[in-house]
Amino acid sequence: VSQVNTAVVGLGFMGSRWALAMFEHPAARLAFVSDVREDLGREIADALNTRYVRDPLEAAADSEVDGVVICTPEHLHVEPAVAAIEAGKAVMVEKPLAHTVVDAELIRDRAANLSVPVLVGHILRFEPRYAAAARAVRDGDIGAVQAIRGERVGLIGTQSILQGRTSIALYLAVHEFDLARWFAGEVKSLSAHKSAGVLERQGYEVDDLYSALLRFESGAHGTVLLGWLVPDDYPGRGLVGLTVIGESGVVRIDQDALGFVKVGKGGKEDDFFFDAEVEGKRYGVLSIEADHFVKCVQGTAEPLCTASDATEAVRLSLAMESSAQSGAPIYL
Ligand SMILES: NC(=O)c1ccc[n+]([C@@H]2O[C@H](COP(=O)([O-])OP(=O)(O)OC[C@H]3O[C@@H](n4cnc5c(N)ncnc54)[C@H](O)[C@@H]3O)[C@@H](O)[C@H]2O)c1
Repeated sequence: VSQVNTAVVGLGFMGSRWALAMFEHPAARLAFVSDVREDLGREIADALNTRYVRDPLEAAADSEVDGVVICTPEHLHVEPAVAAIEAGKAVMVEKPLAHTVVDAELIRDRAANLSVPVLVGHILRFEPRYAAAARAVRDGDIGAVQAIRGERVGLIGTQSILQGRTSIALYLAVHEFDLARWFAGEVKSLSAHKSAGVLERQGYEVDDLYSALLRFESGAHGTVLLGWLVPDDYPGRGLVGLTVIGESGVVRIDQDALGFVKVGKGGKEDDFFFDAEVEGKRYGVLSIEADHFVKCVQGTAEPLCTASDATEAVRLSLAMESSAQSGAPIYL
């Protein structure tokens, strides 16, 4: 199968990793990278032997590339994504697809009208434990799903990086609601509660925790616990896990059971999730996802998480926010 030309727009935590994954992929060529920060863009371009393009919209539509990876901050996905779609590129957009349902639907509909593949970076679909759980459900190994429970409570220190730029709904809940739909189908209704104040007192305009109760169209039900209130000393990324109970079996994932923590020079290191490195090459979840995206660009795979899936994750996450605000359940 032919080699594909790719570009990465936005070169922070995720984008720098995506650029490396494209650089290392045997069937991809990293044609260029783009970021509004010229110093960062040039540094990464030099390190990965590629060129730097300053304007992200020009980058997204460049005739040299077949596939564009968009890793700008959460609320800045729409413009580069639509520019790339309209130029006919295969697109990978980091989660959340967008910060509003209207923008998510815009990306979804534009891609559908132009028959452009869009993969949304719900990376957990590529994590071997979650993939095994999905297979168990799909193959009927645990019978019909009766209930699920997800938890994703990150470290307090997350805010020193995010600086309140996004919300629990759009940063964390989209992951859990995407998984919930993957495992148990469409959600019929949800109600939620939240608490706030601890992080506000530290100067961040974000809530602390959410609990949501879900009812699925299948009759199954479930709960999710979300937020960022785990002390930074806690090993790993926080309290993260998933339980799926079927009529004849159960699946349980402890995502925070990393099995490896190093505390020393460079601070706390536990990054086997994205970036497991052996003999100078990365084998983490991101490489698996990047490999899938290359296949989507080549036309040999369909996106495992579509813009339509990701739009529903945004819809459910914002519904959770509204329900917690109003105190009333939401019927989807
Ligand atoms: N899949 C995951 O597990 C995961 C993990 C972390 C972050 N994310 C998502 O990845 C996306 C990026 O997050 P991050 O943590 O890498 O953010 P970041 O702040 O580390 O990086 C964002 C980069 O985009 C650049 N940028 C800002 N505006 C731009 C624009 N208009 N055009 C081009 N570049 C621009 C910034 O200079 C910065 O280098 C977010 O949507 C985030 O939610 C996903």
